Amino acid sequence: MMDTTQPLYIRYEQPSDGEQIRNVNEAAFGCSDEAELIDRLREEKVILLSLVAEVDGQIVGHILFSRMLIETTQGPVPAVSLAPMAVLPDHQGHQVGSQLVRRGLAELRERGERVVIVLGHEEYYPRFGFSPEKARYLDSPFPPDAFMALELSDGALAGVHGTVRYPAAFGL
Ligand SMILES: CC(C)(COP(=O)(O)OP(=O)(O)OC[C@H]1O[C@@H](n2cnc3c(N)ncnc32)[C@H](O)[C@@H]1OP(=O)(O)O)[C@@H](O)C(=O)NCCC(=O)NCCS
Repeated sequence: MMDTTQPLYIRYEQPSDGEQIRNVNEAAFGCSDEAELIDRLREEKVILLSLVAEVDGQIVGHILFSRMLIETTQGPVPAVSLAPMAVLPDHQGHQVGSQLVRRGLAELRERGERVVIVLGHEEYYPRFGFSPEKARYLDSPFPPDAFMALELSDGALAGVHGTVRYPAAFGL
């Protein structure tokens, strides 16, 4: 079980973290689909931000943000895809995921990013400000309740109607 006396550090991924990140994703999802998605996103060079959560030198959580677009009749609107995110099973439920999301969103906001999009658990992501309502004018192949958007800047999605274009790595 998790040792809650050890501090949690959130930091940028380093080149030597690749294997631990793969392990965290495989353990959290119970398969290698997400680890392989990460490999393809690396190859496609669309990753904007990759953060790891570390406890006592061990990576226990990971979050990835990559570039995506919303295609509109006025042209493409840049957005950020949050996917995947994973926390080791023994460390789940201790705010590791929440800290990764919050740190990631803060960093993206500082960089001037305006929109983040996630496909995920509808009970989890609204606590960070994501909502299906914000994504209602974005066409996607996903179920509307699980497809959510967040504005990092007020009004970033006002009047934005279009179709989401994910990196090819997602195979959509
Ligand atoms: C989802 C995940 C990243 C959350 O990380 P975490 O560190 O456990 O999350 P936190 O401790 O910050 O938050 C815990 C909350 O997440 C909720 N949660 C965790 N997994 C969930 C799931 N599969 N579906 C819905 N809610 C979930 C918990 O119920 C808890 O809610 P509460 O605060 O209302 O009790 C982690 O559970 C995980 O890796 N799951 C497996 C992989 C996965 O589903 N990734 C996300 C794909 S969208």
